[in-house]
Amino acid sequence: MISQQQIDEIIERNDIGDVIGEYVKLERKGSGYSGLCPFHNEKTPSFSVHEGKQIFKCFGCGAGGNVVNFIMRAENLSYPEALEFLAERAGITLEKSISKAQEEKNKIKNDIITVNKLAARFFYDTLKKSPAAQKYLFDRGIRAETVKQFGLGYAPDSWDALYKHFENNRIAPDIKLLEKAGLVTARKDKPGCYDKFRNRVIFPIFDVQGNVIAFGGRVMDDSLPKYLNSPETAAYSKGNNLYALNVAKKAQSDRVIIVEGYMDCIALHKAGINWAVASLGTALTQAQAKLLKKYFNEVIIGYDADSAGQKATMRGLDILAQAGFRVRVLSLADVDKNVKDPDEFLRKHSVDDFLKAVDLSKSLVEYKISKIAEKYPVTVLESKAMFLKASMQVLAGITSASEKDLYADWFAKKYNISKEALLSEMEALQNGDYVAKADTVTRRIKKASGVDSVDGANAESHSKTPEEIKLDKHIKTLIILMSEDKKVMEKYYKKVYDIADSDTNKLLLEKLKSRYDNLSKTGPEAILADAADQSDDEVRVLTDLISKWMRPPDIQAACETLVKNCIIINCERKIACINEILRNTELTSEERTALLKETAAIIEERKKYKNGN
Ligand code: UTP
Ligand code: MN
Repeated sequence: MISQQQIDEIIERNDIGDVIGEYVKLERKGSGYSGLCPFHNEKTPSFSVHEGKQIFKCFGCGAGGNVVNFIMRAENLSYPEALEFLAERAGITLEKSISKAQEEKNKIKNDIITVNKLAARFFYDTLKKSPAAQKYLFDRGIRAETVKQFGLGYAPDSWDALYKHFENNRIAPDIKLLEKAGLVTARKDKPGCYDKFRNRVIFPIFDVQGNVIAFGGRVMDDSLPKYLNSPETAAYSKGNNLYALNVAKKAQSDRVIIVEGYMDCIALHKAGINWAVASLGTALTQAQAKLLKKYFNEVIIGYDADSAGQKATMRGLDILAQAGFRVRVLSLADVDKNVKDPDEFLRKHSVDDFLKAVDLSKSLVEYKISKIAEKYPVTVLESKAMFLKASMQVLAGITSASEKDLYADWFAKKYNISKEALLSEMEALQNGDYVAKADTVTRRIKKASGVDSVDGANAESHSKTPEEIKLDKHIKTLIILMSEDKKVMEKYYKKVYDIADSDTNKLLLEKLKSRYDNLSKTGPEAILADAADQSDDEVRVLTDLISKWMRPPDIQAACETLVKNCIIINCERKIACINEILRNTELTSEERTALLKETAAIIEERKKYKNGN
């Protein structure tokens, strides 16, 4: 794996004009060069190289990208091969080539880890002196052994106990480091600092190697916020870590259970289920899925039964399935509908009961179908029809023959449908000669609306509509804008992530965020570097955008407008889809009314954005 920094260095040290000049006779023109395109036959030059932006583009055949994309094409190499080729050309030794910036960053990271370790020790020792905190943990079923295993602690009820501890004992060579670690904040009015964590039970967060990279702190009553967490630092990036993975990876288990909270995870470990990790209440990222894949092949999602937990489950499912996991969903509510999360379950029931529930976890297909059944109760005939239609989309996503048979069997029995009819309909859907327009349309509405769709197991692959192309360009432009300004990135990250409707765009966002976290290079060219291994189409769209790129004077205003436009486009896509259903599908009068009502609501929303709110 070549790091982002190394890739940047490789690109920086291979000037695109020099590299391409070795393949193409280039003539200087304006801010760059032009020549005959090496990728298609031409007599007049339509191939151009932009020196400032370090990109090339052929207006004849559409080829384009950065120096890596050029070498991939010219030498017919894969992405990593092209990087190696260019590294060698520039005399960069890949293993050893740690750039200055990387070195500096590593140093800060290690320093933060050192400070964190000392802070963790302080919190741990302080817990021993606080009967109230000890009682809190005891009441939640946590004993000394667990306190020790997870390094739990207590931050005293004082403005600056931790700060003073470091100061008095002269243990931090540089107080600034405490600030960089997110443990203290400098006072505005006078010298000194105050602690971030006060009167909270402390949960150190470890990385896979067992370094303390961050902390979470919980109040001991009902006050808010319930948990405080360390900010993102050079040592800690939320989306790249999972709580307790340092322990779970040693469990020699093929499966892992992901839960939401610290307490859930600890309760499981305490019960001997040491193959549990926690995503700490944030949406699962591709980076986390990849990290887990190093150690496990099956993931059981054990999120909370509330709607936030269920939404997160839906989102996590596809990310995990794409990473190649067998995915299953635990439903503790099936055993006891009064429990909210694994921690509560284990307080009321035995470990055996928990493991039984794990064995009964639903597969991805079963779970999606159960969610559809919640929406369209099968006891009502009309809604059963809707249920069947939606379920068919999920079933049609199953490609393996034996699984098809297995699921058809299960579904037919459970919902009292003829298995033969089911199989032939699945077959028809998969062969694409199924004309139930409403189904695809419903799926498209959901996709367009960006809500978690009860989607088929396979994402549909279709050529993009003009609106989708426009939306994609807007999102990519937003990402480029965000690459220009960290504050803007922080402000818009979540919004843009939610409206981004492609995996590539989501990935680019994640990579951009890690660039900011790692203090790496940012800006349009960095985005292109991150996209170099994506499909030709994606690279082309980005190259086009970047070749015309001009930094707007007010980045935030530009983002605001683009986000608004994206939302309007999504509204229009939804309206068009609904109209199509209304025109082309036989519907019951209730269904029709419901759809009309939905349209009205969407039109209202669109109006709101069009009027600039
Ligand atoms: P939960 O609210 O489900 O917390 O949030 P929990 O772990 O069950 O907490 P207890 O049992 O009441 O102690 C799940 C996770 O979301 C994050 C934390 O990581 C928490 O463990 N979270 C939650 C926060 O970061 N801040 C909050 O204010 C709340
Ligand atoms: Mn809980």
